[in-house]
Formats: sequence, C-alpha cells, structure tokens
Amino acid sequence: MAKVVCRAEHISKTFGSFRALDDVSIEMEEGQIYGLLGSNGAGKSTLTRIMSGLLSQDSGGVYYYDFRLEENYRELKKLFSVVPQEASFYQGFSVRANIEFFGIMYGMKGKALGERVEHLLDWLALRKFENRAANELSGGYKRLLNIACSLVNDPAIIFMDEPTVGLDPAIRKLLWEKVKELKHQNKTICLTTHYLDEAQALCDYIGVLVNGRLIVKGEPMDLIKKYGGYRILVMKVDLPLAEEDTNAIKNTFEGSQTTVMGNTIVISFHQEHSLENISLLTQWLMDRGYSVTSSIVREPELEDVFLNVTGDRIRGE
Ligand SMILES: Nc1ncnc2c1ncn2[C@@H]1O[C@H](COP(=O)(O)OP(=O)(O)OP(=O)(O)O)[C@@H](O)[C@H]1O
Ligand SMILES: [Mg+2]
Repeated sequence: MAKVVCRAEHISKTFGSFRALDDVSIEMEEGQIYGLLGSNGAGKSTLTRIMSGLLSQDSGGVYYYDFRLEENYRELKKLFSVVPQEASFYQGFSVRANIEFFGIMYGMKGKALGERVEHLLDWLALRKFENRAANELSGGYKRLLNIACSLVNDPAIIFMDEPTVGLDPAIRKLLWEKVKELKHQNKTICLTTHYLDEAQALCDYIGVLVNGRLIVKGEPMDLIKKYGGYRILVMKVDLPLAEEDTNAIKNTFEGSQTTVMGNTIVISFHQEHSLENISLLTQWLMDRGYSVTSSIVREPELEDVFLNVTGDRIRGE
C-alpha cells in the first residue's frame, strides 16, 4: 500500500454565513496526482489554501505524515509548496531574480541555490526570458514562472491550483509533461482543474467538489465505470435493415436505447457486458448477410461522470 503523505479530515469552513466547505476529507498518497475537480466556487481553492496552511478551517484537521499542520507548521512547511491560481511573484524583478528570491526565502543559498535556479530556468523553458522583468512576460510564461518560484525548494508535495488556465496548447502540453515528470520523481501533486480531459490524462485519483461537499471520489476508470453512464455504438451496414432485423435487435437489447435509421444502428449500451454485446451484434449482422461498413464506439469519459454526478457541465475560467 502506498504511503499517505497528506490528509484533510472533516474540514469545514464558512465565510460569514456562507459554507464554503462542508465536512471534506481527502487523502493523498506518495507519488499520486490527486485531481480536485469542481465548478467555479465549489471550494477547490479554499481547500487548497487550508491544506497548505494559508487559511484556517473552522473544524477538522490537516495532517502531513500524521503530524497536524497547525502544531508543526514550521517543519511541515518545508515539505510542500503551493502554485497559486493568481501570479504570486514580484512583477518588477527579472525572471531569474524572482526564482532566486523565492529560494532565499526558503533558506537556500550558494551553490545549491545557483544550481536549482539554472535547472528551473531550463526545465520550465524560461531560459530565453531569464533577464526580462516578470511583468513583461506573456500570460503563459508568467504561469511557468509562478511554478518555478514554487518549486525552487524541491518540495515533496505540490499543490497546483488551476495551473493550465489560459495556456495555449503548446505550453499546456509542456506543463502536462512536467507534471508527469514530477510524478515520476515520486512527488505527490494535488491538481485543481476545470479541464476534465486534463484530469483524465494526468490524475490517478479524483475528488469532485460540489458546493463545498466532496460528493464523489475514486480512480478515474472506476468513476467512469460507476457513473459514466452509457457506451454509445454507431454502426453502419451496407444495406438498409429489414424490419424484422430491426425488431430482433430492439428485442435483444431491450434494456438499451436503440435507434435504427436506414442502414445506421445507434445503441446506448450500459457499460457492463457492452463490449460482448457489440461483438455479438456484429457477428449476428454478418450471419444475416450484412457487411459492417463502420463501427464507432463513444466511450464514456470523466466529462460524463461530472455531468451525471453534478447534473451540471463543468465551467471554465
Ligand atoms: N475570503 C473569502 N471571503 C468570502 N467568501 C469567500 C472567500 N474565499 C472564498 N469565498 C467563497 O467561497 C466559495 C468557494 O471559493 P473557492 O475560491 O474555493 O472556489 P473554487 O472552487 O476555487 O472556484 P474557481 O474555480 O472559481 O477558482 C466561493 O463562493 C467564494 O466566493
Ligand atoms: Mg479556485
């Protein structure tokens, strides 16, 4: 069993009379990318801020390796870092000076600091801008600088709050690669995101926050199996289907929604046994003298899980 490095237990938080978090518990394991999903205002940043000690909870506790954060903040702070949603560097400083400055704040100096700064400038593609003032960077590179500043002390646990919002596809891809590299270095990452394709591509585990409550958690494939809904088959054959064949198909897959139009068959299968059913149907059609000219299966995705459990489509920015 992987080691639990960080856990939040029964966290609640209100702002005035508004309950932003309601009894939320999560556990992050070593080397895991934990995806925290939720619509705008669901409580993702609030939870991230509480887990990193930037905000205090009303009740519940945050623990790193079984040590409670509030009571051991100075020691535990060295273990984790936060890449906040908004720019957190010094606008007037150069890119290099910003990374150095954050290193100094973390108590780094001399050769170790110098080597780390050089490494991050290359690793996050910031070398060509090293002497530019931070406020002259484009939005995408500002995000990369934010990340460089947060990683300067090489933390074991990294919270990234919507790191890819507003990035162009190339920088987003670069960042995905970097997140995967961090995972391969056995870092633990808590990634907050609106993008379900991103969560599906990167995350080992997902928690879905809705109105301050964690309503679903699990591994992406398990969630898709459980909450993803249907696997949709669109199959075309060479001839229009005879009425008796259409009826036979509808009767055979009684529990599934089946539509036949001319030579096209569309069936929403429940996921269980759906692949066997698709192969049975293909064989049966061939036995009846049809040739299958195309067959497309739309697999359920995290997007479907999100829609089904929240009744809402996730909203960006
Ligand atoms: N300091 C604060 N004072 C009052 N309300 C707050 C404060 N911080 C957050 N909230 C409220 O708590 C709720 C959760 O906010 P939070 O920033 O955690 O959401 P989020 O899931 O990160 O949203 P987004 O996707 O927009 O970043 C929101 O309704 C927000 O307005
Ligand atoms: Mg947020």
